[in-house]
Amino acid sequence: IKKIGVLTSGGDSPGMNAAIRGVVRTALSKNLEVFGIYDGYLGLYEDKMINLDRYSVSDIINKGGTFLGSSRFPGFLQENMRLKAIKNMKKRNIDVLVVIGGDGSYVGAKKLTEMGFPCISIPGTIDNDVAGTDYTIGYFTALETVVEAIDRLRDTSSSHQRISIVEVMGRNCGDLTLAAAIAGGCEFIVLPEIEYIREDLIKEIKAGIKKGKKHAIVAITEYICDVEKLAKYIQHETKRETRATILGHIQRGGAPGVFDRILASRMGEYAVELLLKGYQGRCIGIKNEKIVHHDISDALENMKRPFKFDWLITAKKLY
Ligand code: F6P
Repeated sequence: IKKIGVLTSGGDSPGMNAAIRGVVRTALSKNLEVFGIYDGYLGLYEDKMINLDRYSVSDIINKGGTFLGSSRFPGFLQENMRLKAIKNMKKRNIDVLVVIGGDGSYVGAKKLTEMGFPCISIPGTIDNDVAGTDYTIGYFTALETVVEAIDRLRDTSSSHQRISIVEVMGRNCGDLTLAAAIAGGCEFIVLPEIEYIREDLIKEIKAGIKKGKKHAIVAITEYICDVEKLAKYIQHETKRETRATILGHIQRGGAPGVFDRILASRMGEYAVELLLKGYQGRCIGIKNEKIVHHDISDALENMKRPFKFDWLITAKKLY
């Protein structure tokens, strides 16, 4: 291989820049040329690419977001869009592509590989919901952000003896909520992996009040219910003032923490090494501290992420 493309796709995450840097610097050290593709698969389709040298990735290891830009581009599921993308890469003699993103981005990488264009994907999302890896790039930084927010909420809910509901991102994965709830000492946890029964939550909260809890924080993953309505209902049922806070996109920003910088750097380097060894259609992960790789289809179709029940049990004991 002579020329390598790199893009970031889907929701951005802190550490994506460090991953791009890892890819670029490793590729250049192997005398490969590197093209950065702007705005994910959309930029690939619209032919927005730029030649990257070592200085293109200077001073970005500590920056949040992704300097290449990202997008959600459902159109890429259409074959004609992907054909155009491949044509754009071939025009510049790009041989292989590194995709940094979540499982939606993995689907694009899988499909391109099936169409004869070799890709490797790197897990980048705050959700930690990608199979084949213990951790995704950005997860730990987002976790710090969420815990800091919970700490602040604790100050004010304790001063006012209120119940606070905090809605955390994660889509269908409760990892971020669960870990943040343990680290932030949340009193109640609602996760997508566990059936949500509103009355059970109310019962738990009432039992907590009976035990003498003066204030409480309920951590809940997004998309489970309308947290503003839930706050009103809890207030009505418990006669305790209740407020809801949706953390939203705050969770996606900020400088990557050291774990994410190191993980991203290692994965970026590994992706290029894999491509040089002739691997394609693989996704990279970290398993027990070791960087590993799997077949993308296998990760998407067969490898389920285990839910951390033991963490939930710990959390509940500490309520
Ligand atoms: O996948 C990352 C994520 O931040 C999810 O946690 C969230 O559900 C989604 O992206 C939000 O997407 P968007 O930024 O497109 O609104």
